[in-house]
Amino acid sequence: MPNVIILGAQWGDEGKGKVVDLFAEDFDIIVRYQGGHNAGHTVYIGDKKFVLKIIPSGILRPGKLAVIGNGLVIDPAALLSEIATLREAGVDVTGHLLVSNRAHVLLPVHRVMEKIAEAGPARIGTTSRGIGPCYEDKTARRGIRIADLLDSASFRAKYDALMEEKLAIGRALGVEEDLDWTRIRQEYEAFADQIRPMVCDAAMLLHRAINEGKSVLFEGAQATMLDIDHGTYPFVTSSNASAGGACTGSGVPPTRINGVVGVAKAYVTRVGGGPFPTEILNGVCEQIRERGNEFGAVTGRPRRCGWFDIPLLRYSAAINGIDSLVITKLDVLDDFDDVPVCVSYRVAKREIQEIPPTAAGLEQVEPVLECVPGWRAPTFGVSSYDELPAKAKDYLAFLENRTGLEIGCISTGPERNQTIVKPGSRLEKLVRRNGAQ
Ligand code: GDP
Ligand code: IMO
Ligand code: MG
Repeated sequence: MPNVIILGAQWGDEGKGKVVDLFAEDFDIIVRYQGGHNAGHTVYIGDKKFVLKIIPSGILRPGKLAVIGNGLVIDPAALLSEIATLREAGVDVTGHLLVSNRAHVLLPVHRVMEKIAEAGPARIGTTSRGIGPCYEDKTARRGIRIADLLDSASFRAKYDALMEEKLAIGRALGVEEDLDWTRIRQEYEAFADQIRPMVCDAAMLLHRAINEGKSVLFEGAQATMLDIDHGTYPFVTSSNASAGGACTGSGVPPTRINGVVGVAKAYVTRVGGGPFPTEILNGVCEQIRERGNEFGAVTGRPRRCGWFDIPLLRYSAAINGIDSLVITKLDVLDDFDDVPVCVSYRVAKREIQEIPPTAAGLEQVEPVLECVPGWRAPTFGVSSYDELPAKAKDYLAFLENRTGLEIGCISTGPERNQTIVKPGSRLEKLVRRNGAQ
């Protein structure tokens, strides 16, 4: 059974949670490799709704192992609260959730730093979780890791040194904050004891598991266009959400990864600031938002909505080496007479296919839209390809044609069974135990 990465191909919220939960059935271990509790992965199982933020969605499958990799930034309070929420919903993580000893610890000071940055002119429209500043400390080599948190003497020294520096900067900039930093340290010392039983050398655990023939599913958070290197910088998150991040963020080498599945909506959404070439700036946006329930799972912010973007998807496919696509939320487009698709960008009377490297450059492009006839028939809940309306199939074929990618799976609703996996597809071979034969 292969080891496979499932990641967002657009700007996030593509339905990664649903897709990972669905395919986790056939894998042994599900690993998150970057981000933190800025993610919001929604999974519906029957009448129960779960929103996973830092815990891999695979935790909802009994008997699976969920691993939080070294590439994450962990707010221990958020992690423990998510564990408690799961327990209340009948999911006991004991023995099924492991945390890398090399992941970084997110502190309240990171949220304060983000609040200051977001109040300034270079606002990104973040999730306000402190994710960016925590990664800043990681990269600056002054971050605190889970292994440090568990060693009380080392934690105290590192925390005090970090806070001394932050407070000195705060004083120099005239920033006053009335958080009680010593009390926070004591709180974190208490978190350490609660987290300790879950902590391990996750990279070595995965190495051994793979050698024993176990299969690993990598769950991306955020998405390619929010990747710190390849996304629409600076309107991105602070981690590598694209496929390369799965290796650095878990310790599993590229030679052990067998495939990449990209998840894309049948249209596009984006939360927060930044360029968005196919953004719909009229009432149709609200129509899609209402029908697709496009409100942030973490912050509740309304998502900006736009048409499917072929140049963006081709870029995403190149960066990630996407083997197969999952197209989600097809049902949201059921009511349109025709569905515009962006097939290229126009800039200064020239048509281009490439993504400009700067946010300002991408702001300037105009989408060249081609209208594909709508199907005006319900697809919600359809679970067999043959039952899709002919024009919906044509829409999917158009996307396959123009992106050059296989669409191996189509999602027609939030539930597990509201999904079509194309028999014989490359995707089926990657994610289905019997598909691998
Ligand atoms: P993620 O962050 O990529 O996991 O996506 P989110 O959970 O933030 O947002 C996706 C939303 O769409 C969730 O509320 C899902 O339950 C929902 N969803 C997923 N697939 C489908 C689908 O095919 N149709 C509809 N109508 N909703 C879907
Ligand atoms: P999932 O995993 C959509 C966006 C924020 C902001 C930018 C930086 O659910 O798809 P951050 O708090 O990460 O520093 O914010 O990234 N963002 C997301 N947008 N889905 C997400 O996660 C996101 N996580 C962060 O809105 O524009
Ligand atoms: Mg989400």
